[in-house]
Amino acid sequence: MDDDPVSNDSPNPHFEQFLTALAPHAQIRRRLLQLSLGSVVLPFLGLPALAAADRSEIGFRAIAASTEDLVRVPEAYILQVLYAWGDPISNGPAFRSDAGNSAAEQAEQAGMHHDGMHFFPFVSHGQPSSTHGLLCVNHEYTDENLLHPDGGANWSEAKTLKSQNAHGVSVIEIELTSRCKDVRWQLVRPSTYARRITARTPMRIDGPAAGTAAMRTRDDAGGQRVAGTLANCAMGVTPWGTYLTCEEHFNAYFNGLDQPTPTQKRYGIRARSAGYRWHEHDRRFDVASEPNEANRFGWVVEIDPWNPGSEPVKHTALGRFKHEGAMLTLAGDGRVVVYMGDDEAFEYLYKYVSRDRFDAGKPGGGAALLALGTLYVARFAADGRGQWIALQHGQNGLDAAHGFADQADVLIHTRQAADRVGATKMDRPEWVAVHPRTGEVYCSLTNNRQRSAVDPANPRADNSFGHIIRWREGDGQGAAAAATSFAWDIFVLCGDPQHPDPDKRGNIRGDAFASPDGLWFDPDGRLWIATDISGSAVNRGDHERFGNNQLLVADVASGEIRRFLTGPRGCEITGLTASPDGCNLFINVQHPGEVVGGRFAPAKPLTGAVWPASQFPELTGGRPRSATMVIRRQDGGIVGC
Ligand code: FEO
Ligand code: CA
Ligand code: CA
Repeated sequence: MDDDPVSNDSPNPHFEQFLTALAPHAQIRRRLLQLSLGSVVLPFLGLPALAAADRSEIGFRAIAASTEDLVRVPEAYILQVLYAWGDPISNGPAFRSDAGNSAAEQAEQAGMHHDGMHFFPFVSHGQPSSTHGLLCVNHEYTDENLLHPDGGANWSEAKTLKSQNAHGVSVIEIELTSRCKDVRWQLVRPSTYARRITARTPMRIDGPAAGTAAMRTRDDAGGQRVAGTLANCAMGVTPWGTYLTCEEHFNAYFNGLDQPTPTQKRYGIRARSAGYRWHEHDRRFDVASEPNEANRFGWVVEIDPWNPGSEPVKHTALGRFKHEGAMLTLAGDGRVVVYMGDDEAFEYLYKYVSRDRFDAGKPGGGAALLALGTLYVARFAADGRGQWIALQHGQNGLDAAHGFADQADVLIHTRQAADRVGATKMDRPEWVAVHPRTGEVYCSLTNNRQRSAVDPANPRADNSFGHIIRWREGDGQGAAAAATSFAWDIFVLCGDPQHPDPDKRGNIRGDAFASPDGLWFDPDGRLWIATDISGSAVNRGDHERFGNNQLLVADVASGEIRRFLTGPRGCEITGLTASPDGCNLFINVQHPGEVVGGRFAPAKPLTGAVWPASQFPELTGGRPRSATMVIRRQDGGIVGC
């Protein structure tokens, strides 16, 4: 999703000023345990090069950039559309191409704007299956012009309900089927696991902020229950087999104020914004009527896909901000570590460390690990080192004298707490990925064109194309993911290596790309990079040479980056996950056709003056639909290898 305006006008200094001052399913458990950090020694500035053993072979020929309204992949790869907006999750109602499905029908169908996702394998004969699993898919936001037959006109309660039901998460059961020579992934219908979680699904709140006064509303006098999750961007996975979905641009849904307070402004809640119109028919989203409801969004939500009757849980211990994702790994001692970006220009990078340790032998104990722990925020120093600063009441000036009454107050106002402790303002932190062997952590900083003061971690004043930063945890004394210091460098400055203007080239060793967003390491250690150039910039001006948004693969040891996939017009690529054997890569094509003032010839008119720039996936003139796709090699081998 494109970003909001800057909310961080705090006097928090830029970093130069500090320089002088300073499961049930064993396979998932195994895979995540492999991600725990070993002993990483960092004797000096910057990161040592990875050993040859950490090279990850890239075994395909790069494809060209594209402006076509198609998905393209290298030769000898097969593409399949699996799950598009409006498809029934089980044996429910079929999609109506005129968008005529009701709100109730939408609650049994794929939501809009697929984003983060994860494949949870069934276990067969003691082994994780690569042909049968549950797929959790986030539905980040809606395009009301496409969602209703007459678009956003004549706004009503029914349209509000349908919009809310097109948000949230899908849990679908999928399997690889083979009939004669037709090998395809399909949804299992009916499925007892199939489930939609929407912006209206009842859920529980836990952690230090649960039950406090700022979390109470007329619907929930106890402050411990909330209806729904929304703005579900990227995700995480726990070693106990659950899915984490992250609430990102939640501010866009809260409306109705004449004059927001400074606290509301800090979270981007603005006076009568031109955003969603839910507040006209659902008073929860009318901030003037129900000011605390916005405090109940902006969290990480845990869902147990294996138990369709279970209630999702919002974990307040992980802080409240525009959560991009929640990359979970384990420290060497078993503590849970979660890396999280706050996706807005000049916002921060966070890490949560649980108090207690994960014990695979203790079933059911996992969720408590996300209720009790310490939240940290990152400060990057010029010497290649960095610090994780605790956002803990009573420490680092987070006390009553500075406006923080208790830990709940710190967590509900995480951004202000991070301002207070002097965190480094970043160029829009998006996904985080952890290398499966080395424990190196990578974070995409998608872009920021508004930076007046650069710093070594955000080194371009006009960072139109973004960069990827990385770090290794620890101080050389036996590092672990839970350490409070790290060493960092910049993995790549994005741009076009062939661009005639040296300022536009970046330092990519390989194919041109901009606005990195999705980041994911496959089990072999290849780093997959998905791009999200916004609809107002894609294929225009400085961005013209990048083509449509795309998916690339990096060998982080050599730095080589190759283009693997190009998306249709006006989309972003996101949602990276694979079957355990690596032979089936699942991706999401989000918001095809979302082009603002682009140069593409229109397709066919939908309603009124709406002319979509894309016809993906049907390519027959209907509404463009976000969709999950599966990519396989014709010879059945590992994708990307
Ligand atoms: Fe929802 Fe930051 O992308
Ligand atoms: Ca994103
Ligand atoms: Ca993005």
